[in-house]
Amino acid sequence: MTPDSEADLIRRIRAHMAAGTTDMAPAPYENPVAMYTSRDVLAQELDIFFQKGLLCVGLSADVPASPEWLTHDIAGRSIILVRDERGVLRAFLNVCRHRGAPVAEGRGTFRRFTCPYHGWTYDLKGSLVARPTEEGFAAIDKCEMGLTPLPVTEKNGLIFLSCDPKRTDVSPDERLGGAAEDIAAFDLDTYYRFGTRTSGRRMNWKLVVDTFLEAYHLDKLHSKSLAPMIHSLFAVWDDWGVIGRLTAARKSISEIGDGPLAPHITQLYFLFPNTVLIYQQDHVETFQAFPKQGSPDEADIVVSLYCPTKPETDSETRHWQNNFDLLMNVTGDEDFALCEKIQRGFYTGAQSHVTYGRNEPGLQHYHRSIKAALGLDGA
Ligand code: FES
Ligand SMILES: [Fe+2]
Repeated sequence: MTPDSEADLIRRIRAHMAAGTTDMAPAPYENPVAMYTSRDVLAQELDIFFQKGLLCVGLSADVPASPEWLTHDIAGRSIILVRDERGVLRAFLNVCRHRGAPVAEGRGTFRRFTCPYHGWTYDLKGSLVARPTEEGFAAIDKCEMGLTPLPVTEKNGLIFLSCDPKRTDVSPDERLGGAAEDIAAFDLDTYYRFGTRTSGRRMNWKLVVDTFLEAYHLDKLHSKSLAPMIHSLFAVWDDWGVIGRLTAARKSISEIGDGPLAPHITQLYFLFPNTVLIYQQDHVETFQAFPKQGSPDEADIVVSLYCPTKPETDSETRHWQNNFDLLMNVTGDEDFALCEKIQRGFYTGAQSHVTYGRNEPGLQHYHRSIKAALGLDGA
């Protein structure tokens, strides 16, 4: 946070505390339930966001050093992220150029990807280096049979890529806008990935993001877990293009005096269209939502916890393990369990629209951005 933005946040949060208010949009906003249930909408989202679009797929800490690699399922499309011998981050479609089998699974540190079907073998740069019974294929130049590369880039410790091999521009600069300075100051490129957990849920992928874009629900849904620590009022919303930031005030803010703001807030960055990064001062959490092909009612949720340094002792490991368990319990048992019921409620015919209140500007911004990107602004 720059001094100017800290001063601005303090002023705005203080004003809300004095008035008992929170940031407000000009008017409530209604969004058709079909945005969460329509297969046509999902087909457009898969094409525009998850096939052709720019996605934040994690932190540099996911593949910190050569020869580490991992596979990632992006809405049914398996990709490999790998750091080659020179430390360059590369991304490939996880599809063997012989007859299409995936060549890697999970994560690892092998220097070669050997296809489990017939043994074609690729190096960390994706080049085909061996194919058994070479004479069967010698007429086809090995150089043309490397793994299909995807455009990928790292910026301030975040990894961005597109699943469109033909896309040339994956610079996130323009998209991050005013959030770039904040994010750069977090030094995310120095973090350590403590763990990642993936779960499948019967809910639309956008409900995952909705969960995080307002503090309004804390007092009720999280009355015992989060409400004792974080205010559901006094939240401040900022956006830059499609990127947004929700700043929620911790209960300790009443003791701020002339001290720094950072210990008294939780900041949540929404990285359009499917990633939420929560900066918790002593660690970072990310939530990524991926739709299932063909089903608007199913999502994969990938949750990661990153800490500033690798835990060196059992007690440090236990500390982060407890943090991770708490995070998974609160979001899994409270937020996402409810979202699955919401998804079922969409099909009852109870209403044609859901309503985002004036006090939920983040949700309004998110869904306006989604619809604008899909060309559904008038819907
Ligand atoms: S499909 Fe990979 S070696 Fe045959
Ligand atoms: Fe929540």
